[in-house]
Amino acid sequence: MPMREEAKMIALQAKGFLAEAEGLCLYELAEQSSPIAPCFEIGSYCGKSTIFIAEGCRVADKNPLFALDHHRGSVEQQLGQPFFDPALYNKEDGMIYTLDHFMRNIRKAGLVDWVIPIITDSARLGRYWRNVSFGLVFIDGGHSEEDAFQDYSNWGAQVAPGGYLCIHDIFRDPAYGGQAPFHVLEHALTTGLFDFVDQVETLGILRRR
Ligand SMILES: C[S@@+](CC[C@H](N)C(=O)[O-])C[C@H]1O[C@@H](n2cnc3c(N)ncnc32)[C@H](O)[C@@H]1O
Repeated sequence: MPMREEAKMIALQAKGFLAEAEGLCLYELAEQSSPIAPCFEIGSYCGKSTIFIAEGCRVADKNPLFALDHHRGSVEQQLGQPFFDPALYNKEDGMIYTLDHFMRNIRKAGLVDWVIPIITDSARLGRYWRNVSFGLVFIDGGHSEEDAFQDYSNWGAQVAPGGYLCIHDIFRDPAYGGQAPFHVLEHALTTGLFDFVDQVETLGILRRR
């Protein structure tokens, strides 16, 4: 089913780092896979990807999306860094803070009932939340080798059989971007747990065997 126009507009207007084709692909994958088990996103920022995935969950009408972010921004989004946005800067704390923008966008898109926000560090939650099963895992949190591999080892193997592992910012050529997500994708394919499905712009899509 094509995505609801109103939700799509709010997703496209939200601040963030996701192309329309990538978002629509996440929407379709979430619609397909959320009946298997809930979806899980690492790196929500202001809710752009969250809206696409949660709308897929809403249409399938079975399971919600857990949306994880500490909402303090990645290294490259801090003051003085290339992806810094002054509109998200909290002067008192000396850090960016995205939770207000995130909640407002989820509300505007009418998706409050389909998103369960988790406001903490990914590795911290990974120490406690084991043996969960997800229909779709979308990795778009910290982009260092350490963060990206930690996200994969905490959450990748929790994709249910038939479910999807989606990794954002896959740049096969280092001239175009950081290599950590691509290294994670390559590693996931060596485990024998996943088949490669497709790449839509920089969104890598794997399916759990
Ligand atoms: C590239 S942005 C995500 C963009 C978003 N998916 C979109 O559609 O616009 C990365 C996000 O990951 C979050 N993040 C980075 N490291 C994290 C960690 N260790 N735990 C939780 N969130 C983290 C940052 O706060 C930031 O909001």
